[in-house]
Amino acid sequence: MKPVLFFFVFGSTAVLAIDFKKDIRPILKENCYECHSKESGKEKAGYIFDDVETLKLDIQPKGIIVPKLPEESYLLEVMTMDVSEKAHMPPKEAMSAKDIAKIREWIAAGALLEGEGAATLPVRAAVPAGPLDWTNTEGKTIKAGFVRLEGENVVLKMPANGQEIPYPLAKLNAASQAQAKAAAEGK
Ligand code: HEC
Repeated sequence: MKPVLFFFVFGSTAVLAIDFKKDIRPILKENCYECHSKESGKEKAGYIFDDVETLKLDIQPKGIIVPKLPEESYLLEVMTMDVSEKAHMPPKEAMSAKDIAKIREWIAAGALLEGEGAATLPVRAAVPAGPLDWTNTEGKTIKAGFVRLEGENVVLKMPANGQEIPYPLAKLNAASQAQAKAAAEGK
C-alpha cells in the first residue's frame, strides 16, 4: 500500500458540513484579523481575510488556499510549521489543534465561502466503470476507478476502500490525462 499512499499524499475528500461563516471566519478573526483585515486596517503582506471578494482571489490552484488540497495550501502551512519559523502565522503563537483541523477540513471540502456549500458541489457522475491504470508524471502507476473531472482535478475511486480522491490532472502523464478526458466525455 505504501506507493499508493505516497502517490496520494494530499487531502481527503471528507464532505463535512463546515460552514465558512460559522466555523472558519471566527478562527481567522481571532488569529489573523489583527494584522490582515480591513477591520484593523492592517494588510500585512497584502493579505486581507475579512473581505470575501479579496479572500476569493486567494482560493485557487495557485493561491494560498488550494480547494480540496489542504497539504498544498500555504495558508495551512504557515499555521502548522514550527512556531519558531519566521513565516509561522500568527507570528510566534501556536493555534489550537482543533482550529487547525477545522481549517484543514474546510479546504478539503472545497474551501467554499457561502452557506452550506453542498448545493455548489459538482453533481456526482454515474457509477464509474472498473479500475483503470493511472500513471503520474513521476512514472508511478496505480489502479483506480474514474469518477469525474472536477476543475483541474480528476476524482479517482480507490478500489481498496472505495474512497474518492481528487488528483491534479497536471500531475498525470499525457496518456492518463487523455484517459481522464475521454472517460469524462463517455459519461
Ligand atoms: C501580529 C500580526 C500578524 C498576525 C496576527 C498574523 N499575521 Fe500573517 N503576516 C504578518 C506579517 C508582518 C507578515 C509579513 C511577514 C513577512 O513578509 O516577513 C505576514 C505574512 C503572512 C503571509 C505571507 C507569508 C509569506 O511567506 O509570504 C501569510 C500567508 C499570512 N501572513 C497569513 C496569516 C494567517 C493565516 C494568520 C492567522 C492564522 C496570520 N497571518 C496572522 C503579521 C501577522
